[in-house]
Amino acid sequence: MASVLFVCLGNICRSPMAEAMMAHRLAEAGRLDVTVNSAGTAAYHAGEPPDRRTVATLARMGISREMLARQVHPDDFERFDLILAMDASNHAHLQRACPPAHRHKVHMVLSPVQGGDVPDPYYGGEDGFEEVASLLATAIDHWLREI
Ligand code: 4NP
Repeated sequence: MASVLFVCLGNICRSPMAEAMMAHRLAEAGRLDVTVNSAGTAAYHAGEPPDRRTVATLARMGISREMLARQVHPDDFERFDLILAMDASNHAHLQRACPPAHRHKVHMVLSPVQGGDVPDPYYGGEDGFEEVASLLATAIDHWLREI
C-alpha cells in the first residue's frame, strides 16, 4: 500500500486538483493499492469544499471528487509515503515541519518534470486553473510510474 499527499497553501485550488486527478488516474488503472489525499499549509479554508474554479476545471476533465480542505497535520509525515509540494514556499514549510526521519518523502511536485512552482491561481482567472491542470497532468504521469 502506498500513499501520496499533495500540499498547497489553502487546499482549495491546486492540491485538491492534484488529488482528484491522481485518484481518477489510479481508478482508471484499477490501482487500489494507492491512497491519495491533500492538505494546505494554512488553515484559512479548513472545512471548505474546493474553489469553484477547481471544481469546474475538474468537471471539464470528467472528474468529480468529494473533498474538504484541511491543514497539514504532524501525523501526515508518518502516514504518507510521498508528500508533494506545489511551490517552493509550501516545500520550505513542509521541510521545517517534517521530522528529519521523514524529510526524504517531501518533494516539489514538478521536480521530475520541468521543476519550479505550480503557480498559485487563486487571485487570477480561469486560465490559471487550466495551466495548473496541465502542469499537474504531466507530473502525475511521472509520479504514477514511481509508486
Ligand atoms: P491553493 O490556493 O493554495 O492552491 O489552495 C490558494 C487558496 C487560498 C489562498 C491562497 C492560495 N488564500 O490566500 O486564501
